[in-house]
Amino acid sequence: MTYNVDGYINLIKTRLSEYRFHHSVCVAESAVALAKRFGADEEKARVAGILHDVMKEASLEEHLAECEKAGVQMSELELKNKKLHHQISGAAFVKCELGIEDEDIINAIRFHTTARENMSLLEQIIYLADYISDDRDYEDVDVMRRKVSQGLESGMLYAMRYTIVDLANHARPIHPDTVNAYNWVINSFVKED
Ligand SMILES: [Fe+2]
Ligand SMILES: [Fe+2]
Repeated sequence: MTYNVDGYINLIKTRLSEYRFHHSVCVAESAVALAKRFGADEEKARVAGILHDVMKEASLEEHLAECEKAGVQMSELELKNKKLHHQISGAAFVKCELGIEDEDIINAIRFHTTARENMSLLEQIIYLADYISDDRDYEDVDVMRRKVSQGLESGMLYAMRYTIVDLANHARPIHPDTVNAYNWVINSFVKED
């Protein structure tokens, strides 16, 4: 399948604020750079990066309508956590509205906020690109960028530890997929002494 990347860029321009449009373009650029470095499909990385936040500014009604269209249901925890809506409805959107069939692109969007166990290379790339894109300026972003520059495993390890600690520090619930992602990364990438 060839992807109408310019069309997707125009689409998100109409759906997102200038700030988030810029973020999406930056994530796509980071994702392509990571795809080059780690040997993933660069076009899929660009498409998933551009579209990952396509539903970020949608209303609850829109999230629910898109999920219903795709036949997916949000769990109680997901419904209660607004930040999680857009990864689920976003995956539904690219499938139902844009006709994207590539499961890897769909899943990269579907799990870009929570992460999950056994993420594919593309899923990890979008997850990390979202953390290190040029527009990001949170306190630890330089450490995150350095860890990713050291390799995919080092980037995922740092990102998952950061995510769990950050959620706990803000007294926010931790989605089971995030806990599973953390355990997966610890079990796979931490070498025992
Ligand atoms: Fe997002
Ligand atoms: Fe994002």
